[in-house]
Amino acid sequence: MLRSKIAGIGMYVPENIFTNNDLLKYMDTSDEWIQERTGIKERHFASRTGETTTTMGVEAAKIAIERAGITAQDIDFIVFATLSPDYYFPGCGVLLQRAMKMKEIGALDVRNQCSGFVYALSVGDQFIKTGMYKNILVIGAEKHSFGLDFSTRGRNISVIFGDGAGAVVLQPTEKENQGILSTHLHSDGESAEILAMYNPGTHANYWVKEKLADFDNAEVGEMFMSHAMVEKAQNFPFMDGPAVFKKAIVKIPEAVMEALHANNYQPSDIDLLIPHQANLRISQVVQQQLGLRNDQVHNNIQKYGNTTAASIPIALCEAWEQGKVKEGNLVCLAAFGSGFTWASALLKW
Ligand code: UT7
Repeated sequence: MLRSKIAGIGMYVPENIFTNNDLLKYMDTSDEWIQERTGIKERHFASRTGETTTTMGVEAAKIAIERAGITAQDIDFIVFATLSPDYYFPGCGVLLQRAMKMKEIGALDVRNQCSGFVYALSVGDQFIKTGMYKNILVIGAEKHSFGLDFSTRGRNISVIFGDGAGAVVLQPTEKENQGILSTHLHSDGESAEILAMYNPGTHANYWVKEKLADFDNAEVGEMFMSHAMVEKAQNFPFMDGPAVFKKAIVKIPEAVMEALHANNYQPSDIDLLIPHQANLRISQVVQQQLGLRNDQVHNNIQKYGNTTAASIPIALCEAWEQGKVKEGNLVCLAAFGSGFTWASALLKW
């Protein structure tokens, strides 16, 4: 049976490094609080000019394409996952197609936040399996730094996130025991509002009022975008961190176990788990629940923060570059985030 394999992988993070202490200029926080609660020491932020979600995706894609031994002209489909697109529309996929001078191929944007890359990988996998495409570029990229509230009011969110991009090239393989063995995708929209950016949007407060009784934006939701939104700082993401945390530590292990069961494996068979880098404490609880050793889990949130759709491909790329992922290894990717959505992918490298 035709399967997809990762034929090339690349990552890109901007040059600018922001340490926890650098954030003290803008808000009341501390290096100690951030490290203790999240594990994060620093993150990379895009340059103020010329660096966008798409351009970061391009840099990661160039490396993935080169490592796959092909050129941008050989790519026959793009799947771009991001929650921080250059434009509200069109999506980053077409901007990347233009920037990389690719053929007039299909370009699809995936909006699944922290699960975005695993969802995008799953979409690419289906097109390879049916034989429709032979070289699919899957990207996860984010430029959070332009859309966060860096005042003390927004500190529970803004200290977590960082910018960056990761990309893979998917190709078909007929080798037995190689490639993506399965992907599993899930959602539960019941808690959509507890990790969300409401504005700009067309909700007219319909959902927000029902779900968050104390959310003071009655007049703000009447327009897609308004001065009042900006005045009330309601153009930033909202997150009930502890509620997200509690759900993540249940759903990530569930998604891993689902992937293992579907392929007759158990946690001890995993060579490397790449959990979405949301919070080091989440990864540690997941590791503990699955009974995994330290060398079976790759974390790098300490250096990059939470890069949402980019976190898994960045961590996978880094692990591969460090020789932690070798041919024949069983690798599991697992994500959870806004939506809620969660997902896993199990692959033999
Ligand atoms: O990737 C997308 C999915 N997102 C996640 O998975 C995030 C999951 N949630 C988390 O990672 C954690 O909930 C956070 C890191 C966001 C917050 O950590 P926490 O341990 O849950 O803290 P908390 O929200 O319960 O806040 C504890 C205290 C509060 O003060 P009081 O009310 O106890 O006086 C906050 O105001 O910490 C305060 N606080 C801060 N203090 C210093 C919140 N943010 C900060 C900050 N610096 N940056």
